[in-house]
Amino acid sequence: MGVFVDHKEQLFYLQTPTTTYVMKLTGGRYLTHVYWGKKLFHLNKKNAFLNRMLAFSAVEEGDGETYTRDFIRGEYPTGGGTDHRFSALGVTFPDGSWDCQLEYVGFEAIAGKEKVPGLPSLYVEEEAEAETLKIFLKDPLWNLQVTLYYTVFKEYDVIVRRARVSNGGDQPVFLNRFLSASLDFEQDHFDLLSFPGAWGRERHMEKAGLRSGITCFGSNRGASSHQMNPLLILEEKGGDEDHGAAYAMNLIYSGNFLAGTEVDQLHQTRFFMGMGDDNFSWKLAAGEELDSPEVVLAFSSEGLGSLSRTFHDLYRNHLVRGKYKKEARPILVNNWEATYFDFNEEKILAIADAARDLGIELFVLDDGWFGEREDDSTSLGDWFVNTKKLPSGIQGLAEKIHQRGLKFGLWFEPEMVSKVSKLYEIHPDWCIHVKNRKRTECRNQLILDLSREEVCDYITNKISGILDSAEIDYVKWDMNRHMTEIGSCGLSSDRQKELPHRYMLGLYKIMEAITQSHPDILFESCSGGGGRFDPGLLYYMPQAWTSDDTDGIERLKIQYGSSFAYPLSAMGSHVSAVPNHQTGRVTPLKLRMDVAMSGNYGFELDLSKQSEEDLAAMKESIALAKGLRSFLPFGDFYRLLSPYQGGDTAWQVVSKDGQRIFAAYFQVLSKPNPGICRLKLKGLDASAFYLDEENGEIYSGGELMELGLVVSLYGDYQSKTWLFRRKDDYEVSD
Ligand code: GLA
Repeated sequence: MGVFVDHKEQLFYLQTPTTTYVMKLTGGRYLTHVYWGKKLFHLNKKNAFLNRMLAFSAVEEGDGETYTRDFIRGEYPTGGGTDHRFSALGVTFPDGSWDCQLEYVGFEAIAGKEKVPGLPSLYVEEEAEAETLKIFLKDPLWNLQVTLYYTVFKEYDVIVRRARVSNGGDQPVFLNRFLSASLDFEQDHFDLLSFPGAWGRERHMEKAGLRSGITCFGSNRGASSHQMNPLLILEEKGGDEDHGAAYAMNLIYSGNFLAGTEVDQLHQTRFFMGMGDDNFSWKLAAGEELDSPEVVLAFSSEGLGSLSRTFHDLYRNHLVRGKYKKEARPILVNNWEATYFDFNEEKILAIADAARDLGIELFVLDDGWFGEREDDSTSLGDWFVNTKKLPSGIQGLAEKIHQRGLKFGLWFEPEMVSKVSKLYEIHPDWCIHVKNRKRTECRNQLILDLSREEVCDYITNKISGILDSAEIDYVKWDMNRHMTEIGSCGLSSDRQKELPHRYMLGLYKIMEAITQSHPDILFESCSGGGGRFDPGLLYYMPQAWTSDDTDGIERLKIQYGSSFAYPLSAMGSHVSAVPNHQTGRVTPLKLRMDVAMSGNYGFELDLSKQSEEDLAAMKESIALAKGLRSFLPFGDFYRLLSPYQGGDTAWQVVSKDGQRIFAAYFQVLSKPNPGICRLKLKGLDASAFYLDEENGEIYSGGELMELGLVVSLYGDYQSKTWLFRRKDDYEVSD
């Protein structure tokens, strides 16, 4: 395992359990990419590394070879010298030139993994869990140093990459692009999977063949965004959930990002990801350095399913932290869709009473409890309780909720300020804005300027103060607009474009301080639903509100799309009322519950107004979910049927010990006179027996996987779930 350097051949090998990643020096100077894929123990240098001269490509010489960087596969290309393709780094030097040529200086291999200063990152608990290779590069003309970091985890088929730039010169330089990783494949026979969306329909998987030229994806909105997730997958043509090579990049960052592919003139594919550069420039003074976020590179030779399971395990074990890392999450009720802003203590307690009777464990008070907030036009920033609505305050309400045997949770939107607020009256310059330009509001709010230390301190102290003032067990941390008129009066004119990244550094600092000083609180991130559903935030908050769209049918695509990188333990998923508030669709309660219990289960409707029949069904489902949650969010997830191919959707979870299986089938539209529909399970032991816990039937694993279960559903929006338990003591009678 780990890092191996073949000094003679100048090859760097990174070995994971079943994969290999290889780099090589070319011309004795340039670091180039050679191989990433299924495990190899050795490469013949001449066979692995091809060289070619191209018309219209300038030729260089070095180490007895001639070559052009227009052809050779780059590892961290800068676009300088003879390289014409998409670069990972853009620099403007003190004389205005931007030709950057990074040459190899040396390497260091260390046990374990270092934290990335100020940024979320994967971690190890023991040094022996990982090895890190650092490769040092330098532009000798300006003494600009770049360190490339590669961490190899002992148990995971991933390479974690990042870069650090240090200005070793004596004058400032400006970075105008700073990606975390880039590498080149020798061919282009891939499909590219991306995860675009919008508010209410996040992470819808799109698949398309690669095309010649540069194809970019990203966010320029100041957040990773609903519109595009920082996840790309290259799937070998003809691959599927269980077959074919699949390569992914996923950025551990919650701000602007840029990712994509470039298919060059010889049909080689460049694959890259990192911070976005449209609103980015960074002044690096002499002696200063800047770290990129980490990007996780995952590979599977066995299709998309195992690729996703690698991400899930990695994130659950080496990204998510704290008390709730492996703990079952409380089943909650949130009052947002039940009351919106129109609540008082009486209404809240009525919902809490009904929740307690159902076995729900946590009551979450959403937006509208502070300042004078009766709708979304005021009070963000004024974090003091509205005693007209809640006469006994947060402390009193929390006590009353606890007396009912429920935990208590509270909504915040700490990064924002309403124009109509006390905070804005006192500090009108604390928001992101450009001097002398209008400050465009979105949802009647402006964004606080987290590049400023005093603003960050204010938020940290204010939120911590409230959390310490009452018994609060859960926090929903929301963020409901994107950046416009991006400027800071705390930054000099040559540093204005640093704001989006400085904002993220400020946000992460606040989140680190608050989450670490409140280790018993369960934090759930949210950004108008899943607008910042990324690995960056999972480092601070173990779960996220997957989408504001609570329609059971819409959730199939959203949760299925999210599962390509993110585990079920990250997905908040609630049952809401019908007609659904986002789509107007009426779906059966069973379907809504079956979809929601596949994630962190919750309810978001007025429980004090439900029929006896529905309450009884909810109670049953909650009891069932309590029995599943020790394994369901933490087990091996299998996508069985894609909502993107025909509508019907199915998924399955196998507990880590292989003893318990949950499977769910969702029929979107019924068809007249359908043929036999069977659901084939995955990941079982073919020679073991499994008990259907509902009806006592016994099936062999082989039968469940090869023949499958008969699915017979009648009507639109129907669902069926199964629970199996492995039966090792079952004997077949003669
Ligand atoms: C966002 C969230 C919702 C809710 C509202 C409150 O839209 O995604 O769940 O909290 O804000 O204003």
